[in-house]
Amino acid sequence: MRKKSLILLFLGLMLATVWVTASWAQPESFVINNSKAFKQLKRSPVNFPHEKHMDSLECLDCHHSYKKGENVLDEDTLEEGNAEIRCAFCHTWDAKTQLRAAYHLKCTGCHTKLAKKGKETGPRICGGCHVIK
Ligand code: HEC
Ligand code: HEC
Ligand code: HEC
Ligand code: HEC
Repeated sequence: MRKKSLILLFLGLMLATVWVTASWAQPESFVINNSKAFKQLKRSPVNFPHEKHMDSLECLDCHHSYKKGENVLDEDTLEEGNAEIRCAFCHTWDAKTQLRAAYHLKCTGCHTKLAKKGKETGPRICGGCHVIK
């Protein structure tokens, strides 16, 4: 009886670990390339070290879904392969902030803000981000 419940407890813990890991899995680094949306890229695609940004930032610092000006994004929807969390899903040509501006305001905007505060930050010049051949 005791042994059986220990095994059950163990299996439960394993399942919990798998579930937690799966729901929080994010790629370490990936290439941002919206060549379809931009039709033809004038600059190279951009390497984005997603994982490196996790130390000091929250998911909702970058991912959002606004309702009455408030970011109401459900973090559980932040899953690999969910097309609706891609910037291009909302930042279309009709959006107030179009795709290119959305990336630049977000990426370069934050890097510049942190640099002004003298904090560790990322690239601010074109060639610092558009590096992939
Ligand atoms: C510094 C900004 C930033 C932070 C912080 C951030 N992300 Fe992201 N994430 C991005 C960008 C940019 C993309 C690429 C979206 C695109 O290009 O359409 C992305 C993509 C993703 C993807 C989709 C990968 C794919 O292509 O299927 C997942 C899943 C994801 N993020 C989860 C998370 C989770 C979970 C957190 C918090 C633990 C988080 N992100 C924090 C900026 C960020
Ligand atoms: C579910 C839809 C949706 C997704 C996905 C989305 N946005 Fe937005 N975003 C909005 C809306 C709505 C606004 C407010 C109207 C506007 O400025 O276009 C906004 C505003 C912005 C702004 C200007 C205001 C601000 O917060 O500074 C930036 C920059 C931005 N988004 C960047 C991004 C980036 C980068 C991604 C991908 C990581 C992304 N957005 C994904 C809907 C979305
Ligand atoms: C809210 C703030 C914030 C946003 C938004 C942000 N970054 Fe960063 N970025 C940082 C910080 C902080 C670092 C320094 C992290 C480190 O080196 O550990 C960094 C570092 C980097 C680096 C250099 C990493 C290295 O290995 O030296 C690159 C490349 C980068 N960011 C690209 C991007 C791109 C592309 C985007 C938009 C898709 C983006 N960042 C959005 C804060 C931000
Ligand atoms: C902090 C990172 C970062 C910096 C700095 C940056 N960009 Fe970008 N830029 C991006 C990201 C991310 C995209 C989206 C790339 C994609 O989807 O292919 C983008 C998209 C673009 C696009 C639209 C896609 C294309 O290739 O036609 C152009 C044009 C562009 N950037 C030019 C510039 C220029 C010019 C500078 C310097 C003044 C610059 N960028 C600086 C991150 C950056």
